[in-house]
Amino acid sequence: MKNRIHCCIVYYVFIQLIAVGFASKSDFKCSKNFASYRCRLNTRTPYRFVANNNETEIKFKGCTAKKIWFMIRHGARLPEPNILSETKNLQLLRDQILTKCNLSKCNLSTVQINRLKNWKTQFTEASQPRMLVKEGEQELFGLGQRYQSRFPNLMPKKFTNQTIKLKFTNKQRTAESARYFTIGLSGNNSFQKVWLPKPVSKDAVLQFSSTCDSWLDWVNNNRTASEQYEMFESSTVVRKMLDDLSARLGVKVTLETARLIYDVCSYETAWNKTKSAWCLLKSSDYKIFEFIKDLKTYWTDGYGYPLNYEQACPVLVDMFTFFTDERQEYKISAYFSHTSNILKTFALLNIIKDEFPLRYDTFEKSRNRNWRTSLINTFATNFAFILYDCDTGPGIIVQHQERILNLPGCPKNTPCPLDTMKNNYPLVPENCNFQKMCALANPSHE
Ligand SMILES: *[C@@H]1O[C@H](CO)[C@@H](O)[C@H](O)[C@H]1NC(C)=O
Ligand SMILES: *[C@@H]1O[C@H](CO)[C@@H](O)[C@H](O)[C@H]1NC(C)=O
Ligand SMILES: *[C@@H]1O[C@H](CO)[C@@H](O)[C@H](O)[C@H]1NC(C)=O
Ligand SMILES: *[C@@H]1O[C@H](CO)[C@@H](O)[C@H](O)[C@H]1NC(C)=O
Ligand SMILES: *[C@@H]1O[C@H](CO)[C@@H](O)[C@H](O)[C@H]1NC(C)=O
Ligand SMILES: *[C@@H]1O[C@H](CO)[C@@H](O)[C@H](O)[C@H]1NC(C)=O
Ligand SMILES: *[C@@H]1O[C@H](CO)[C@@H](O)[C@H](O)[C@H]1NC(C)=O
Repeated sequence: MKNRIHCCIVYYVFIQLIAVGFASKSDFKCSKNFASYRCRLNTRTPYRFVANNNETEIKFKGCTAKKIWFMIRHGARLPEPNILSETKNLQLLRDQILTKCNLSKCNLSTVQINRLKNWKTQFTEASQPRMLVKEGEQELFGLGQRYQSRFPNLMPKKFTNQTIKLKFTNKQRTAESARYFTIGLSGNNSFQKVWLPKPVSKDAVLQFSSTCDSWLDWVNNNRTASEQYEMFESSTVVRKMLDDLSARLGVKVTLETARLIYDVCSYETAWNKTKSAWCLLKSSDYKIFEFIKDLKTYWTDGYGYPLNYEQACPVLVDMFTFFTDERQEYKISAYFSHTSNILKTFALLNIIKDEFPLRYDTFEKSRNRNWRTSLINTFATNFAFILYDCDTGPGIIVQHQERILNLPGCPKNTPCPLDTMKNNYPLVPENCNFQKMCALANPSHE
C-alpha cells in the first residue's frame, strides 16, 4: 500500500486507441465513436459498445495460465421503480411535445417527431424494477464465450460443480448474470446443467460498503459528498441547457424531466439496437448528464475520499487468496456485483486517476477526464485477474472490459510478478484492516 505509485495511464486514450475485434462483429464501438451520445450514457451504457471481440488466446512467452478470477457487474436491466412509475408522465410529455410540433412551436426534426409519434413504452404492468433484460443475458453469455476462447485450457467445455466458484448478491440481476456467464463459459449445451449456489447477502467481498459504518456515515449519508453534483445541477451550464431544451421541445422542462428523458434514452439504447425516440438531446446535453453522474460516483465510490476505495481491499485479498491457496480446487472464480463495488475496486487499483479532483466547476476543464462511468462502469463491466506460472515465477495479468490494464509499478503487457503486486496493493489480510477503517470512531478518514 505504501508504495502505491500514482500513475497516469491516460485511460481514455487507451480505450480510444485499442483495436477492437473483427470486422464481422463490428457493432458500434466507443473506441471508434468517442464523441457519440451512445458513449455518454454512464452506468446504463450497454456492454456491446465497449466489448472486445478479439477472442485470440492470451499467451505470454514462458508462461502458462493457471487460474482466473472475475469480478463482474450485472448486465443490462430494467429501470429503478421511480423511472418505471414515471412512464405515464412521459406519455403525457410526448403528447404535449407533439401538440406543439403540430403548431410549429417545437424545433425537432421530422425524423425525431416521427420517432416520438411511434414511441411506445416497453414497460408493462408486469415489469419488475431492475430485472435483467434479454440484452443483459446476451452481454454475459458473450463475455463467457469469449473468455472460453481466450483461456481454452482453464475453461472446460462441460459444466460440473467443480468448474467454477460462483458468488452473487441476492438480486435477480446478479443471479441471472451468473447463470448466463456460466452458460457462455461452458458451451450452449450446458443450459440445463448449470447449477447456481445460493445468493449471499451483505457479503464481505461483494457488498463490503453495506457494512462499512464509517463510510455509510461519513460519506454515503453525508451531504458533503453530494455537494459537488448538487452545485453543478444548479449552475448556469445546467440552467442554460434546460432553457435550450425547453425551447426545442416547445414545452418547459425541469431538471427532473430532462433527466427522465436522458434515462429513458439510455435504457432504450441499452436494450434495443434501434434508436430510442427519447434520444433527442443535443450532444452537449449528454455530456452534462454524464458529468452529473460522474461527480456523484467520484465522491461516493471513487477517488473523492480515500475511504471509498481503501475499504475495497477485501476484494483484492480474496483474489490473492484464491491464487495462492494450494487447497483451492477451482481454477475459475466469478463474482457478480454492483456499481458501488465495481467502482471502489477500480479506484483501489489506482488506475485512472485524474490530475485534479472533479468538482462542480471543473466541467470544462475535465472534458477529457479519465473518470467516465460511461466507459469504466457500463452494464456487465468486468475485471479478470489471471494468474500465470512463468519461467521467472508467478505473475498476474489484469483485464478490464476484456483488455489488459497495465497497473502502476508493474511491467507493461506481461504478467506482473506477485511480489511487485504485493508491494503495491493490499493483497494480504495484514494490509487490509476493514474492521478498523470501517469503525465509526476511525478518526483518520481525511
Ligand atoms: C487479438 O489479440 C491478440 C492477443 O491478445 C493479439 O496478439 C492480436 O494482435 C489481436 N488482434 C487484433 C486484430 O487486434
Ligand atoms: C397533429 O396533427 C395531425 C393532423 O394534422 C393530427 O392527426 C394529430 O392528431 C395531431 N397530433 C397532436 C398530438 O395534436
Ligand atoms: C432550430 O434548430 C436549428 C438547429 O437544429 C437552429 O439552427 C435553429 O436556429 C433553431 N430554430 C429556432 C427557431 O430556434
Ligand atoms: C451440484 O451440486 C448441487 C448441490 O450439491 C446438486 O443439487 C446439483 O445436482 C449438482 N449439479 C451438478 C451438475 O453436479
Ligand atoms: C451458441 O449460441 C450462440 C447464441 O445463441 C450462437 O451464436 C453460437 O453459434 C452457439 N455456439 C455453438 C458452439 O453452438
Ligand atoms: C461530512 O464530511 C465532512 C468533510 O467532507 C466532514 O467534515 C464531516 O465531519 C462529515 N460529517 C459526518 C457526519 O461524518
Ligand atoms: C426492446 O427491449 C425490451 C426489453 O428487453 C423488449 O421487451 C422489447 O421487445 C424490445 N423491443 C424490440 C423492438 O426489440
